Amino acid sequence: MDSTYSKVKTGIPGLDSVISGGMKSGRAVTVSGPPGSGKTTFGLQYLYSGATDFDEPGVYITMAQNIEEVKNDCKSYGWDFDNLISQDKILMIDARPFKIHDDTIGKDDSLYRGEQLPFEHLTKLLLSSIKRIEAKRIVIDSITILAMQYHDKFYMRQGLQGMLQALENFGVTSLLLSEYSENDEIPLEWFVTSGIIQLRHTRVEDTMERTIQILKMRGIKHSEQIHPINLDSDGLHLLHPRLMP
Ligand SMILES: Nc1ncnc2c1ncn2[C@@H]1O[C@H](COP(=O)(O)OP(=O)(O)O)[C@@H](O)[C@H]1O
Ligand SMILES: [Mg+2]
Repeated sequence: MDSTYSKVKTGIPGLDSVISGGMKSGRAVTVSGPPGSGKTTFGLQYLYSGATDFDEPGVYITMAQNIEEVKNDCKSYGWDFDNLISQDKILMIDARPFKIHDDTIGKDDSLYRGEQLPFEHLTKLLLSSIKRIEAKRIVIDSITILAMQYHDKFYMRQGLQGMLQALENFGVTSLLLSEYSENDEIPLEWFVTSGIIQLRHTRVEDTMERTIQILKMRGIKHSEQIHPINLDSDGLHLLHPRLMP
């Protein structure tokens, strides 16, 4: 087994052991799943663990929820992001297309000069944020909302590939959170990222079960099983992690 590459731990207990010890440093991985499957939790746990356990600062960019709400929801997991932000270990960026100011909804002109957020702007914003705190980890929540802005698939693909290349050049390991339910069209990010982690939240008889499966992880020996997971007051963890043979 090739163990010469540097590994980035996900911080999800049990997960690193089924991906040969961690993700490849400098790569981008898609985390997909339906609403409520734990994508945002996964992303924030990755950043929180990076900042607290591995001395790897991280940037979280949200296109969905406002930052106060995100930080507040994290309290149910016992994660104090304000403390990490004050130490420049975490940076949270609100890049939603619409924001509410004084009870009116307006576009954020600093980013959205036209109808779409140009990839060049987003990439520049990410790179300057990375430099500011010497980030090693990035989470984009979500790439689906970003993609909705573009009608031109070619532009989206070129833009996304350019952005991922720039992030790779900076040596950061990124997670792209992606809304995907079974039977949906395969999203673009599945093709352009080096890994895909699929979260599922499905009905089994009269209850709901959560699972995780590694669909792709380029250059890494990984489990192909569907692993049951738990989401509780400590965040996400695999229930019966097995070491790779
Ligand atoms: N402290 C907690 N303990 C257990 N489950 C929680 C806790 N906080 C949130 N959840 C669960 O996590 C779900 C939200 O997960 P989230 O990461 O936001 O999913 P997604 O981003 O995929 O929509 C909630 O619907 C709830 O079921
Ligand atoms: Mg979410």
